[in-house]
Amino acid sequence: MSEYYWNSKIEYLRNTRWLYYNDDYLEFLVKNVWKINAPVNIVDYGCGYGYLGLKLLPLLPDGSTYTGIDKGEDLIKEARQIFDKLPHSVELIQGDIEEIQVHRQYDIALCHAFLLHMKSPRDILQKMIDSVLDGGRVICFEPHWIANTANYGFDGIQQSEVVRLGILQKLYEASAKDSGKDGNIGMRLPILLSQLGLRNVGCRVSDKVNFLDQNMDATEKVRLFQSLKEEGIGQELEDPVKVVEQLVQRGLSVEEAQAQYAAELKLLQEFDSDSWFTYAPNMKISYGTVGRE
Ligand SMILES: C[S@@+](CC[C@H](N)C(=O)[O-])C[C@H]1O[C@@H](n2cnc3c(N)ncnc32)[C@H](O)[C@@H]1O
Repeated sequence: MSEYYWNSKIEYLRNTRWLYYNDDYLEFLVKNVWKINAPVNIVDYGCGYGYLGLKLLPLLPDGSTYTGIDKGEDLIKEARQIFDKLPHSVELIQGDIEEIQVHRQYDIALCHAFLLHMKSPRDILQKMIDSVLDGGRVICFEPHWIANTANYGFDGIQQSEVVRLGILQKLYEASAKDSGKDGNIGMRLPILLSQLGLRNVGCRVSDKVNFLDQNMDATEKVRLFQSLKEEGIGQELEDPVKVVEQLVQRGLSVEEAQAQYAAELKLLQEFDSDSWFTYAPNMKISYGTVGRE
């Protein structure tokens, strides 16, 4: 059995990606924002089971190709099984992006929920840029956790009782400072892309607002609730002493850690499939053009 963390998260990835974008919005990006009307060769960094390829290939002009790179053997195996049954031209590479060198041969380098896990995102971004031909693009779909957590809506619960924005902001910033891994990277990316020499840099925000509607179809409601739980909303908690200790280690004061635990516990206790709930993931989609002359 493999011990690589993401190999055990295939179900999580499968069950949560659909929360982020409506298909018509992805089509809008491809056709109206990026105006891709000739075949392109794309490379997806940290592709997982190939989510982005599965979404984008049907929207791209015929003749487009997709290369997915991921460290997870099981994820690449899963991706191969999925794409083997489809007509697209696909290459899947298992490897560590921090180590492998990708040749300059692609029209577009993409990533989805990947750079936030990198200790040196700027270096990886440079690697992505280096793999793109002149005039090509880099496109990053990355989260902005503080906007994400600000976008929980309830009926009968004060948002501030279950989402402690100030505390979370401190926690996210401390983690980024300590590890380099930044859950708010989505909002930094336009700046990084421009500083690294890309031009025509733009940024969009994901369109989808998920609505756990008590009047919706019962099967759809169960599916949405389960995905929201997998997304980490109202997640199970470990022993309070342990949680508080870990939060303190991550940079909070004891009072802040206790307040954060209390907020998470209240959310766990109050959020169930009978809750009215709205949630906008707030992914940021940043892009720019590579021009070396
Ligand atoms: C949150 S998942 C996103 C997967 C996919 N992009 C998606 O959105 O479904 C992060 C992915 O990055 C991959 N990853 C993390 N570090 C990596 C590295 N050093 N080299 C290659 N892949 C890596 C993981 O294996 C995982 O599949």
